[in-house]
Amino acid sequence: VKKIGVLTSGGDSPGMNAAVRAVVRAGIDQGLQVYGVYDGYLGLYENHIEELTRRSVSNIINRGGTVLGSARFPQFKELSVREKAVENLKAANIDALVVIGGDGSYMGAKALTEMGYPCIGLPGTIDNDINGTDYTIGFFTALNTVLEAIDRLRDTSTSHHRISIVEIMGRHCGDLTVSAAIGGGAEFCIVPERGLDEADLIAKLKAQVGRGKKHAIVALTEKVTDANALAQKIEAETGLETRATILGHIQRGGNPTAFDRLLASRMGSYAVDLLVQGEGGRCVGIHNDQLVHHDIIDAMENMRRPFNDKLFDLSIKLA
Ligand code: F6P
Repeated sequence: VKKIGVLTSGGDSPGMNAAVRAVVRAGIDQGLQVYGVYDGYLGLYENHIEELTRRSVSNIINRGGTVLGSARFPQFKELSVREKAVENLKAANIDALVVIGGDGSYMGAKALTEMGYPCIGLPGTIDNDINGTDYTIGFFTALNTVLEAIDRLRDTSTSHHRISIVEIMGRHCGDLTVSAAIGGGAEFCIVPERGLDEADLIAKLKAQVGRGKKHAIVALTEKVTDANALAQKIEAETGLETRATILGHIQRGGNPTAFDRLLASRMGSYAVDLLVQGEGGRCVGIHNDQLVHHDIIDAMENMRRPFNDKLFDLSIKLA
């Protein structure tokens, strides 16, 4: 391996820049030439590829987002599109690719690997929903952002004796919500893995109101239900004013926390080590603070990330 590429794809996450920087600098340190692919798989298809130097990744370790740009590019599912992408990589003599992103990005990396083009996947998403890793790059930064928001909502909802529903990102994964519910001291935690029993939630809220409680925070993962409609129902049933706050893309931005900078730096450098050792078709994870790697196809097809029931139970116990 002499030349490698790096791209960020799908929803951005804080720490992606730190990962890009690590791939570039660790790669150059090992005598490789490193190329940045702009705007994810779209840039690969459109041949938007440039060599990166140590200097090109100066002053980015602290920055949110991704300097390489990112895109959702569903057309990458088409074989002819992927063939064009591989053609572009081969024309530039790039031997292997590091893909930093979430589920969709891993799908692309898996497909390229299946076409005989070696890829290494690094988990970059705030959702923490990637097989083969305890944590993804960006999760803890997003968690801090959510906690800050919940703290602020607590101030105003206690002042106004209101119930506050906080809608948190995660796609189909409740990890961000559960951790935010514990850290933010939310009274209720509703996640896709456990579903929503609306009648039960309202009965419990009513019971709390009956005991004199005048405010509550409900942490809710996006897509489980319509947060505003739920707020209206709760208000009608409990008699307490209820507001829904949809945190949205605020959760994706911001400077990465110490943990995410370290995780991204470790994973980026590890990806280069794997490529230099001749490994391809792998995805990198962290398990019990040790860097690990798995077959990317096996990780996507066969590995599962069991929902952390204990953490969910804790959110209820401490509420
Ligand atoms: O995967 C990251 C994520 O932020 C999810 O939490 C969310 O469902 C989705 O991306 C939003 O996607 P978009 O930025 O394309 O609206």
